[in-house]
Amino acid sequence: MARITAGITTSHVPAIGAAMDLGKTAEPYWAPLFRGYEFSRRWIAEHTPDVIFLVYNDHASAFSLDIIPTFAIGCAESFQPADEGWGRRPVPVVQGHPELAAHIAQSVIQQDFDLTIINRMDVDHGLTVPLSLLFGQPAAWPCRVIPFAVNVVQYPPPSGQRCYQLGQALRRAIDCFDEDLDVQVWGTGGMSHQLQGPRAGLINQPFDREFMDRLVSEPDALARKPHIDYVRLAGSEGIELVMWLIMRGALDATVREVYRFYHVPASNTAVGHLILENGGVQQP
Ligand code: DHB
Ligand code: FE
Repeated sequence: MARITAGITTSHVPAIGAAMDLGKTAEPYWAPLFRGYEFSRRWIAEHTPDVIFLVYNDHASAFSLDIIPTFAIGCAESFQPADEGWGRRPVPVVQGHPELAAHIAQSVIQQDFDLTIINRMDVDHGLTVPLSLLFGQPAAWPCRVIPFAVNVVQYPPPSGQRCYQLGQALRRAIDCFDEDLDVQVWGTGGMSHQLQGPRAGLINQPFDREFMDRLVSEPDALARKPHIDYVRLAGSEGIELVMWLIMRGALDATVREVYRFYHVPASNTAVGHLILENGGVQQP
């Protein structure tokens, strides 16, 4: 059977991708950030999964503001890096897993979550930057990736509670896929940041640190945080953090924290990163 072995969270700041693509990672501004991912690159080389279920948000790249699905699952064979206005990032094409994606779609939809099925889509920095941070610059990504896009761009976003419950439904779906696959769930975006308006540049370190603590140790309570608290305390783009709760809902009630990194700032954003391993007590 398929099994979820670990969850990873990481921010997706586009300038991180640009720093890698333009060979600037050793510059003084960037070096401390990339040092924070050295452990993770060694860890993932030893724990490369067969499939990553990658929860991210599209930034009006694949979906224009004409149509914005709340939850969308990528069921295609492959996904091209999106052109976000300055050409496609020079990163590999993402290879999907249509069979597992179709199974998850049918299972999660039958568990009463409305997913939009996407058979063709380009993937933007929300998905490619996390892959670059963990895998560097390979000729091909070392595993399959199922993109799962969440609307945190246009009001109203889904609540943290809804995202957490979706993660639990995802867990039940993956657990009954009849193929021996090692699956990781990644929750990306965040942490505190605001890109626009009078509060542009807002970062809230105490909020971020408490969020990471509670994500690990008391996710049930954290999931009840109302969406307005994210916006007020972590900035308008801090709402991206609800995606981390999908990852956490898909893991065991008790997890092992393998690694944590927090760095301020990268561009306008507080960068947070966690590696959590399953192996504790399964959720009821
Ligand atoms: C930045 C952060 C984001 O999450 C994003 O989608 C775009 C830009 C930034 O900090 O520059
Ligand atoms: Fe973003």
